[in-house]
Amino acid sequence: MGRLDGKIAVITGAGAGMGKSTALLFAKEGAKIVVVDYVKKTAEDTAAQINSSGGQAVAVIGDVSQWKDIDTAVVKAVDSFGRLDIMVNNAGVFDNFISALDTDDALWNRVIDINLKGVFYGCKRAIQQFLQQGGGGAIINTASIAGTGGMAGGTAYTASKHGVVGLTRQIANEVSKENIRVNAICPGAIITDMTRNLVADLEATQTIEGNVPLGKWGIGDDIAYGMLYLASDEAGYVTGTTLTIDGGWRAK
Ligand SMILES: NC(=O)c1ccc[n+]([C@@H]2O[C@H](COP(=O)([O-])OP(=O)(O)OC[C@H]3O[C@@H](n4cnc5c(N)ncnc54)[C@H](O)[C@@H]3O)[C@@H](O)[C@H]2O)c1
Repeated sequence: MGRLDGKIAVITGAGAGMGKSTALLFAKEGAKIVVVDYVKKTAEDTAAQINSSGGQAVAVIGDVSQWKDIDTAVVKAVDSFGRLDIMVNNAGVFDNFISALDTDDALWNRVIDINLKGVFYGCKRAIQQFLQQGGGGAIINTASIAGTGGMAGGTAYTASKHGVVGLTRQIANEVSKENIRVNAICPGAIITDMTRNLVADLEATQTIEGNVPLGKWGIGDDIAYGMLYLASDEAGYVTGTTLTIDGGWRAK
């Protein structure tokens, strides 16, 4: 008996990193998955991995900053599996710690479009579908510890992730009467493609590990298990909150 038996989930950015870890774990726990990523090969690989290990998944190649692509993902969930229960708005890009003075319009627009507008689109489209089904549903947005304080990202990234935390709280209030739960996860330093350069940089890695009370990087599964809790019925009384998974970094 899986913790997500019979549930249908759309997961963005599921071609790699913590989105992929989440997709694999949700499938293991019985959910059927729509894997969304703008990198075709990785999206298809995640879906294939789920299908070859006894789960069910389809891939959608799409950019979360485009409404039509988010719409396609939700329509695909309904066409393939009959409904939508869980929306994980996880796709995001980093700004490499670029400060305000060095942030140009192109960087600002790219980071805000993907990290914040993409999450807004994912929330809005999922809510439309949940309401059409008569209410109920869970949304999980990937924010960051850069969403609850400075210095874990650059200007655009930190602004986008604070936006995700605010959006999560606001929307949770707007849809609570329809029994739709909306929460955010705030990861700390997690080893993924996004952080591969930092992990390889000895000095950066020492600084990061020095900041983390548990003294090490997290891995995708550390985040996936938090996602699993927030997506499951066990979190039925949890909405509008942020779950920080950072080895204690924000506790300092
Ligand atoms: N790695 C960390 O330390 C860390 C810390 C805090 C928050 N986060 C957040 O976690 C989320 C996942 O990051 P990750 O570390 O797994 O990174 P990752 O780069 O390993 O994976 C991100 C995935 O999202 C996809 N993606 C990016 N932009 C997209 C778009 N516009 N449309 C569709 N797909 C897109 C990428 O192709 C990639 O497969 C992001 O929102 C990131 O900001 C990461």
